[in-house]
Amino acid sequence: MITGCSSGFGLLTAAGAAKAGYNVVATMRNLDKRDALENALANAGAIATIDALDVTDAEAIKKIAAKYAPIDILVNNAGILIMGSFLDITADEAKRIFETNYFGAVSLTRLAAEQMIQSGGGTIINVASLAGRVGHLFNSAYSATKHALIGFSRSIRLELKPFNIKVVSVEPGYHKTEIIRANANQTENFYNRASTMFEYNRGFLQLMFNEIIPRAGEAEVVAEKIVEIMGESNPRRHYIIGKDARFATVCQRLGLEGWLEGKIFARLMTATERQNRREEKKKASRKKATGR
Ligand SMILES: NC(=O)c1ccc[n+]([C@@H]2O[C@H](COP(=O)([O-])OP(=O)(O)OC[C@H]3O[C@@H](n4cnc5c(N)ncnc54)[C@H](OP(=O)(O)O)[C@@H]3O)[C@@H](O)[C@H]2O)c1
Repeated sequence: MITGCSSGFGLLTAAGAAKAGYNVVATMRNLDKRDALENALANAGAIATIDALDVTDAEAIKKIAAKYAPIDILVNNAGILIMGSFLDITADEAKRIFETNYFGAVSLTRLAAEQMIQSGGGTIINVASLAGRVGHLFNSAYSATKHALIGFSRSIRLELKPFNIKVVSVEPGYHKTEIIRANANQTENFYNRASTMFEYNRGFLQLMFNEIIPRAGEAEVVAEKIVEIMGESNPRRHYIIGKDARFATVCQRLGLEGWLEGKIFARLMTATERQNRREEKKKASRKKATGR
């Protein structure tokens, strides 16, 4: 069972796993978006069951877990991102991220684990992020959910070990999926000029679109790794995927986190200054044209 299969890693993993011969239940919160997955399955010459699941809906989680029992492999992949400074993000937005990225995964894991205990074992794959290993500026709530998910995986791995249940944390850096395109939500206060963080929010956006996204990895790499993990009898505890993720993790291990933060900070300041200059120019040419 895989969550969040309307796009990105979930869609590619569902199609890849089905092609590899797994009996896949691919879930998505909005079945109107099933076409993309159906096309991917058709292209792969594979079939999968597609069903609805919003991971923030406790009743729906119970129903789907019962409907497809026993689940032997669970991929908690559904996730959202709401960008913006922590000063601007509302309590409701922060809650929404936690309900999707953390509590949804925990609820489904609990039910799947109970079934796996009964059936003698299984694999739980939690799609966390590099943002769960290091901080992620202007994405503090997202980063907190992924730290929580990694902490959860680390903890339950030992609890579930006696029952032959493997718990794996997948930790990709930036990859080209909808989460950094159509699903790259911003906090409702993101463009609020009254916010202290207004120009930095904008600077971060520039940094993201001009420097980070063009260097993002291909989503297929992550999906292929997840399918590979499904077949591992002795998977690793963590899979760090992508050049950026490996680089940041090595820096962390070498005690160079401060150095890395300095580099990121310098880039943020440059991007913010560049964006400010662009805005000033725009204002000046508007004034010239309108006299105001
Ligand atoms: N791409 C990256 O750079 C990156 C890096 C590290 C980790 N990740 C993680 O990878 C996972 C997959 O994201 P992606 O990169 O593949 O982005 P994506 O293309 O935006 O896919 C996210 C999926 O999660 C679904 N989703 C969101 N809220 C949901 C809910 N309440 N219930 C069920 N499904 C829900 C989305 O459905 P809708 O279409 O209905 O919105 C979509 O299918 C996420 O957990 C993300 O945090 C991504």
